[in-house]
Amino acid sequence: MEHKIAVIPGDGIGPAIVAEACKVLDAAAAKFGFGLCYTELLMGGASIDVHGVPLTDETIETAKASEAVLMGSIGGDAKTSPWYKLEPQLRPEAGLLKIRKSLNLFANLRPAYLYEELRAACPLRDEIIGEGFDMMIMRELTGGLYFGARQTVEENGVRKATDTLDYSENEIRRIAIKGFEIARKRRKKVCSVDKANVLDSSRLWRAVVEEVGKDYPDVELSHMLVDNCAMQLVRDPAQFDVILTENMFGDILSDEASMVTGSIGMLSSASLNETKFGLYEPSHGSAPDIAGKGIANPIATVLSAAMMLRYSLDLDEAADAIEAAVKQVLKEGYRTGDIMSEGCTLVGTKEMGDLIAARV
Ligand code: IPM
Ligand code: MG
Repeated sequence: MEHKIAVIPGDGIGPAIVAEACKVLDAAAAKFGFGLCYTELLMGGASIDVHGVPLTDETIETAKASEAVLMGSIGGDAKTSPWYKLEPQLRPEAGLLKIRKSLNLFANLRPAYLYEELRAACPLRDEIIGEGFDMMIMRELTGGLYFGARQTVEENGVRKATDTLDYSENEIRRIAIKGFEIARKRRKKVCSVDKANVLDSSRLWRAVVEEVGKDYPDVELSHMLVDNCAMQLVRDPAQFDVILTENMFGDILSDEASMVTGSIGMLSSASLNETKFGLYEPSHGSAPDIAGKGIANPIATVLSAAMMLRYSLDLDEAADAIEAAVKQVLKEGYRTGDIMSEGCTLVGTKEMGDLIAARV
């Protein structure tokens, strides 16, 4: 069976890391006997350069007509790139927000765990790391502050800017359900994160999550204020299984969680809607400073491709094989620069892709 995959290489290191992910996918396809047909799409700066906008309607339609989207990264250097001289809604990031909204990708899964092999890269003290940690940040991705009404006006010579944070109970319920479902397949713990001591949207969030939780008596539900959560992530990350939170809190906390693993170049992500369709991308950005140098770590994208096989294509065996191949390569001591440590073998982007593909 031939699966239709839309591929968005994007900007910066995006094309290089996506090429390696496709190489690994092809190795898995050959081994497990399925077919993949890729359609390459432009988004972000790459689309601005050709079409003048970061995402065209045509691109959205092609993405919709596929089973899943595999993405690299978008954006450039905000100081030097001409893309950032454009109006905000024409910049690369606007394309990413638009594709999430257009495809209704409301559930963003960002796993953050410590690879035993990469323990040395973790910035936390050994006694805090303990036995290691493994959490899943579930971030609401199409509502809240990033999609509310906003404006900048000038009143009597004074500039004033407004952003709106709104959530309907339906938006909260559907992400909460996903959160509990995912928790069921893990350690059965949901920590819902909000700012209910201040925000109305958070009070509604907490109430709806409580309601949904009643349908999952086997899952332990707790609530935590976002400022406390930011602290707990570096104080005792092992306490978390699933962290369920709204858009902006999830944006910030997922960066923090990835940093405590010590290896943002390793972390994958999936953005899902109510069907099997999903968009898969590494948690890191486009790293324009190292683009074209052949040194970027492709592992986060390779692992995102594995998530795609698991969640959108039901090819669990192939996903397992890719994840095992990544672990094996790390065990053998191969490292890209970002995760390099003493006694290991330094390799580039392509070499890392080849090593993983050969072990699938
Ligand atoms: C992310 C990024 C995006 C976001 C930006 C680029 C719009 O930070 O995926 O976390 O805030 O969602
Ligand atoms: Mg972010």
